[in-house]
Amino acid sequence: MDYSWRNLKNIYEHLLKLGMLSPPEDIIGSWMLFDSLPKIDSFLELGSYIGGGVAAFNEALYETGHTDVCFVGVDHLEFIGAKAQGRSGAWYTDHFNRCLTPEEINQLGKLVVPAEAAQWIVERSNRLTNKQLNLTCLLSESEIDSKQRFDIIHHDYGDSIEENLTTMRRCVPLLSNTGVYIVDDWCTGAPLRTWATILAQQENLLFPFMWCKNKVFFAKSSDAAQDIVKKILSNPNCNRLLFKPMRGSDYFGKDYVTIRMHWQAMQWA
Ligand SMILES: C[S@@+](CC[C@H](N)C(=O)[O-])C[C@H]1O[C@@H](n2cnc3c(N)ncnc32)[C@H](O)[C@@H]1O
Repeated sequence: MDYSWRNLKNIYEHLLKLGMLSPPEDIIGSWMLFDSLPKIDSFLELGSYIGGGVAAFNEALYETGHTDVCFVGVDHLEFIGAKAQGRSGAWYTDHFNRCLTPEEINQLGKLVVPAEAAQWIVERSNRLTNKQLNLTCLLSESEIDSKQRFDIIHHDYGDSIEENLTTMRRCVPLLSNTGVYIVDDWCTGAPLRTWATILAQQENLLFPFMWCKNKVFFAKSSDAAQDIVKKILSNPNCNRLLFKPMRGSDYFGKDYVTIRMHWQAMQWA
């Protein structure tokens, strides 16, 4: 699967099939990042849901040479199977109907322990992507071993400012020094998560370096953010019409540079 901007339409179709809840432009931004980093070994998915996200990330990582990434997925499983169990959270049902077979929906309703969720996601991901996925699932972020370090964290749940800030305060320290914290639904689906990232930035927890469509990419330090920006902009695969240095970024420090993905131009092309 080509995850570059050259393949936007096919990526869109593929994500629909996998059941990832993200626009294709954001996966292209992730591909650009993965292609610019020398080594990625570990990935924390906060909100593993039905595994479409981990499947797509795993595939994009494979494509960019990171073929042995260990994933940890966190999901309380309360929304998955909520309809079958007559609980709240059943608003995902329409999405299930779009990307899962009736048999898969039935199986989801029976997932109770995280090991079952991991097995279900791995089997489906291997089948749909033909790539081996190494995944461990947990029910809560509080169960993550505090000594564990991740190269990438994708934060994809949380409503209130307090809830999101708690996740950031707990999980940013789990990043390796050069790691990347991706916040989803920035400015779009989760306005209070957006606000939480601003407060986290004021607490010197998050340093932005790339603005994609719904996802914003942060590093753990200013130096790490600037180092990643240099790596992306010097990558021969970086199309400078689509990944552009963002004016006004010196707000974050002298000579600080961030990258704006020009997702509209990606669509026009
Ligand atoms: C938006 S979906 C994640 C989509 C997924 N990342 C993808 O890209 O396909 C959010 C998931 O987070 C889970 N969730 C929400 N709040 C949570 C919490 N506090 N702890 C663990 N899981 C949670 C829900 O069960 C749901 O499956």
